[in-house]
This record gives sequence, C-alpha cells and structure tokens, in this order.
Amino acid sequence: MQIRIVTGQPWDARADVLVVPVVGDPDFAGPLGELDRRAGGELAGLHSFGELRGKRFSTSLGSGGELPATRIVTVSAGPSDELDRETVRKVGATGIRRLIGRHASTLAVWLDPLAGVDGGVAAAAELVVRGVVEGGFEPKAIYREDTDAAPPAMDELLLVASEGDAGTLERAAERGRIIGEGANIARRLSNRAANDVSPQVLADEASALASEHGLWIDVIDEQRAKDMGMGMFLAVGQGSDNPPRMIVMRSGDEGAKDDAGRHLALIGKGVCFDSGGISIKPADRMEEMKMDKTGACTVIAAITTAARLAPGMPLLAVAPAVENMPGGHASRPGDIIKALNGKFVDLINTDAEGRLILGDAMTYAEQLGATHIVDVATLTGAVGRAIGNLVTGAFATPDPFWDDLSAAADRAGERYWRIPLIQDLMPEMDSWYADFQNTGTNDGSLVKSGLFLEQFRTVPWAHLDIGGTGYFRKPYPFAARGATGVTHATLVEMALAGAKS
Ligand code: BES
Ligand code: ZN
Ligand code: MN
Repeated sequence: MQIRIVTGQPWDARADVLVVPVVGDPDFAGPLGELDRRAGGELAGLHSFGELRGKRFSTSLGSGGELPATRIVTVSAGPSDELDRETVRKVGATGIRRLIGRHASTLAVWLDPLAGVDGGVAAAAELVVRGVVEGGFEPKAIYREDTDAAPPAMDELLLVASEGDAGTLERAAERGRIIGEGANIARRLSNRAANDVSPQVLADEASALASEHGLWIDVIDEQRAKDMGMGMFLAVGQGSDNPPRMIVMRSGDEGAKDDAGRHLALIGKGVCFDSGGISIKPADRMEEMKMDKTGACTVIAAITTAARLAPGMPLLAVAPAVENMPGGHASRPGDIIKALNGKFVDLINTDAEGRLILGDAMTYAEQLGATHIVDVATLTGAVGRAIGNLVTGAFATPDPFWDDLSAAADRAGERYWRIPLIQDLMPEMDSWYADFQNTGTNDGSLVKSGLFLEQFRTVPWAHLDIGGTGYFRKPYPFAARGATGVTHATLVEMALAGAKS
C-alpha cells in the first residue's frame, strides 16, 4: 500500500472511497458543508434521513457526486472533547472495515476533523494509518482465500490535510504503518490454531522474524532448560508431546543500556494450548485457549517493530512457549517445583500455568541483564470479568515505572487500569512444603496472580493481563473477532522511550 500526503481539501482527493470523520454532531457550517455542496448535498441528505449520526464508530455510505472521490464513507468519532488517540486509531480502522466485501483499491482519509487530537495532525496521520492497517486484518483469511470476508487490500492510501508539513506527515504515517503491521504479525500468530503452531513452530516464526530484522535469537530446548534449572517452565511443558521452547530475542548487545539507562525486557506468555493440564478445564470455550500464546506473539512482534523503528536499540524479549496438557508425564497438583530463582512452589492447580512459565522467564531476563521488565499474558479469566475487554488490567511496581507505562500507553492510544498488589493476600498462598503455592483461595485471585509473579522479579516491573482484551469474541466496527494486538503499541512506545532522539 502506497501512502501519499495530499496537502489540500477533501474535494481535491481522487479515490474510490473518501473517509470523512465526523467529530461531534455533523456541522454543515464549516468545511463539511462545502464538501456536502460539492457532493450534491449527499451528506446533509444522509444526515436528515437519519443515516449519518454522531454515535461513535457509526458509519454511513454515500455517493461522491461531482467529487473526484467516487464514494464517501462517514465515520463518527464521538464528542470532540473525548477525541483521544485511541478513538482516532479506531476511526481509521472503522473506515476500512466498513468496506468489507466491497471493491475499492484507493482510499482517501480526510485528517482535518481529527487534528484536534493530542499531537495534532501528525498524530492523526500516524494513528489513522495504523487504524487502516489494523482494520484490514481479518482472521477469516488466515486459512482460507476468503477475500470477501476481509476489507479490500488498498493499493493507495491518500491522507488529506489542509495544513502540516508533508515530510512530517509522511514520517508519522510510516511510523503508523510499521506499528500496525507489527500488531497484525502478533494477531495472525495468536489466531493460528494449536495444531498449526506448536512451541517449536512459534520459535521458527520468531527465528524468521529475527533474521529478517537483524535480531539475535536463542531458542532454549528442554535439555538446556533442565541444565539451567528452569523448573517451573519445564513443569508446565512436560505433559505434552510437543516439547517446550524458551524463545529469547535481542536487539543491541547483551546487557547494553538504552538512552534511558535501561535494559528493558519484554516477556510474553506463550501457552500454545492451555487445556488446564491435570486440573483440566471444562469443554465450554476451551478452544479459545489456542490463543493463550498471545502474550508471546505480542512481544515477538513488538521487538521486531522496535527494531524496525530504532535499529540496534538495546531491547530483550523472552517468550516461554509450552503446551499445557494432561498425560502420563504431566505435572500433578501437589508437585513441588524448584524455580530458576531457587524458590520452591507448591503446584496446587495446573491450570494456573502462565505464572509459572513467566516467573522463570523473568528470572532468566534478569540473568541476561534486564533492568526493567514488562510482561504480557492472557493470565486470568478474572481480569475480563472485573473490567471487561476494552481496558487491560495492569500491575506495576514501583510507582515511577507505572508512570512510564501510562505515558507509553497514552502515546499508543491504549487503555490500562492499575490493579493493586495487596501484599496482605500473600499469606493466603502459604504452602505446607514450599515457599508458596501457585494459587490461593478464589478471593482476590486476580491480585494473587500478580503477587505470585512479583516473587520472581527484583527490578522495576509491570504485568499486563490481557485475559480480557487479548481477543474479541464478537466483531466491533473497528476490529474483527479474535486477537486484537493489544499492548503491542504500548510495548513499542515503552521501548522507544529509550531510543536515541
Ligand atoms: N489462560 C488462562 C486464563 C484465561 C481464561 C484467559 C480465559 C482468557 C480467557 C489461565 O491459564 C488460567 O487458566 N487461569 C485460571 C487461574 C486459576 C486456576 C487460578 C483462571 O483464570 O481461571
Ligand atoms: Zn493459560
Ligand atoms: Mn490455565
């Protein structure tokens, strides 16, 4: 897809479809009115008919009339005082998704109505392109050549802005494209089935990305993991015929500090299938657990994206990949496991497996010189029940690291809600034999998942629980069902805070 900046007005843009963002209720007194006149009153007509409304992410489709654009798609962005970066991204995504099953190869998006967003018209350019790229993703097209289920692939995307330096907008647009493509790499991998993506296949995919983008990679097999003492990682993987793989990727030199004085590590849960193990899950929705590798897919994609945007910047990614299966070799409830950091864990519930593989990955990242850690995991069902599927639950300590994460999230246009690490709950995971159990009582189980992970870090750390946000069960105007790519952009922004300016 070729991206071109058009400095001018929407009635200058020649395209199959012109996307017209509508902020607030449509106001035909300004440039929207001029566009409407040139389109032969089409927009005002759609509005009076009740088709064009102010409701966020609602759309209408009309004719371009005498305009050089053949058709117009309006996308409502909601009230102007709520126009944030997330909304701008989703406006771009909604615009392209409105065209599913339609025939078009050139798209123009009018940026001026979105220029009020934090960061101005350049931010609008970046986020709209990211939205168009992410909105173009359709999981129905992974296994089938099902072109009608996906938005049409665009040859050309025109960004129409009356002001702003074209070079600046071009660079912003390119950044948006690269971040969007990275999210889609993560989404495609996460959506792929467990009979397709085993831990080894995930490692192969990571290796392919690493060689394409000049990253160092190490894939640790069972024997090496055993020699190193990754007892928690192995305990989860040992029940499956598909052996576990600890995937380690790096940009820059081992232990090297970035411009913010950090060696940041991104850690992602890579459970290629989570049956629950011996503590087996009920059949209802068990199929969704092929997406329990989403955290791993996200960090593999994020380090790739960061390397594209800031080649050579120090950054580490660790993705423990396993299949959590019952079987003759599987771990049992009551098994006592020695973690890589030397702590002993009493395995109460084999379905609380994510925290085990992540704990060893966190210790290993620190051994490799990580000074700051962010992990991403479909860790609990509880987080989705608590806050739904549009805001990601996050734990962070100490406070300044939370501030860094929030700032990165704002730039990325993603939402997080901080959940407290209530230390008083830790005794509820006391064990007769070990340092602690991997689960406690149900009360506060979400907090306990964070407390467990906290036992395996000594450096500033944030944990992003995408159990609710990692994939959608229903389609939205701005996204397909399936993996969302959530946290990818935040991780990239977090990493780029250490890039040379
Ligand atoms: N992968 C699941 C969490 C999950 C469930 C994410 C549904 C998204 C949708 C995780 O490994 C798990 O099984 N968690 C348990 C923890 C419990 C055993 C303490 C849970 O959430 O029920
Ligand atoms: Zn899991
Ligand atoms: Mn589980």
